[in-house]
Amino acid sequence: MPAPSSHILQDSFGRRINNLRVSVTDRCNFRCVYCMPEEGMVWLAKGELLTFEEIARIVRIFAGLGVTKVRLTGGEPLMRKDLHLLVAQVHAVAGICDLALTTNGFFLAEQAADLVRAGLGRINVSMDSLDPVNFQVLARRDYLHKVLAGLAEVERLGLRPIKVNAVLVRGINDGEIEEFARLARTRPFAIRFIEFMPIGADDGWSADKVVPAREVIERINAMGPKLVPAERHTSQPADRYVFEDGVGEIGFISSVSEPFCASCNRVRITSDGKLRTCLFSLGETDLKSAIRGGASDGDITELIRSAVWAKEEGHHINDPEFVRPDRTMSRIGG
Ligand code: GTP
Ligand code: 5AD
Ligand code: SF4
Repeated sequence: MPAPSSHILQDSFGRRINNLRVSVTDRCNFRCVYCMPEEGMVWLAKGELLTFEEIARIVRIFAGLGVTKVRLTGGEPLMRKDLHLLVAQVHAVAGICDLALTTNGFFLAEQAADLVRAGLGRINVSMDSLDPVNFQVLARRDYLHKVLAGLAEVERLGLRPIKVNAVLVRGINDGEIEEFARLARTRPFAIRFIEFMPIGADDGWSADKVVPAREVIERINAMGPKLVPAERHTSQPADRYVFEDGVGEIGFISSVSEPFCASCNRVRITSDGKLRTCLFSLGETDLKSAIRGGASDGDITELIRSAVWAKEEGHHINDPEFVRPDRTMSRIGG
């Protein structure tokens, strides 16, 4: 059945799509073990990246289809020169009321003020360890101090919420769960524990490295004030908890042990202009070629509408026939 013509974006399973993740670069100055190999990454040439104007046009078209949330991702988005200029362009698009960034935090101390001035509404910072040695094992870079400085700057600027993403990898940082819980109680950070997902050929994933949310909850509950479920915002991947004494917030993104595909509201644009309707999509729709070939807004709208209609029902991580996407996570944007 073809996609019905309407002013909202929906898929054939009845899910409304109102959330667009836009990767602005495939480059990164970290080499997180679960995300990309240490050596041998071949970066896109500048001309292959969508320009800021092309991204803003795509966002306008999505906004016309009911998308209200945009998240800029990478690689590391702050490696894209003058990202604040793109933030200002996206902020100016009518209908976009939630403009966010997912970053490794390295450049935040220098760039956060410009980004906020340009209209950035909120920020998620990846920080997988609070221990410099473990941090270096996971990110393959000794940059914990830079991430902490970036977080301090965002805190100082008053941007809220501040979400901190920690991918747990058994045998590396699972000993730090209690330390992260303490951080959630002493700083204005929503700490989110993310289950390690299999993406890309060199991610080192195996099922035994995934630390399931229920194990983390038990360990935090054994520490003192217990976690109590907080209201879950519809269509956000994190299962949220607060502590029973009201101090601090913890979240769980449990894509492996408790997939949330049935309420998925998002699609992605890669930095080279491909529309991906699922993090785990094996196929893509080439919006950049259409744009550079002279397609009208109406043509692009139809391309988007039919790709979204065919959005995958969910991922198959836990099935024997699961096939990993070719792209590393760094070339999708998380
Ligand atoms: P908000 O909840 O809006 O703040 O954003 P978010 O949590 O979706 O964004 P973020 O970039 O911080 O992503 C955190 C983790 O969730 C990353 O590991 C993502 O890969 C994962 N994630 C985000 N979207 C999806 C999705 O559609 N499917 C799956 N399986 N994981 C996702
Ligand atoms: N599994 C889970 N999360 C991942 N991320 C990157 N690769 C993986 C993976 N294999 C996370 C990053 C960041 C977000 C964009 O995606 O840590 O928080
Ligand atoms: Fe870079 Fe983010 Fe991938 Fe880590 S997860 S290597 S910070 S793109």
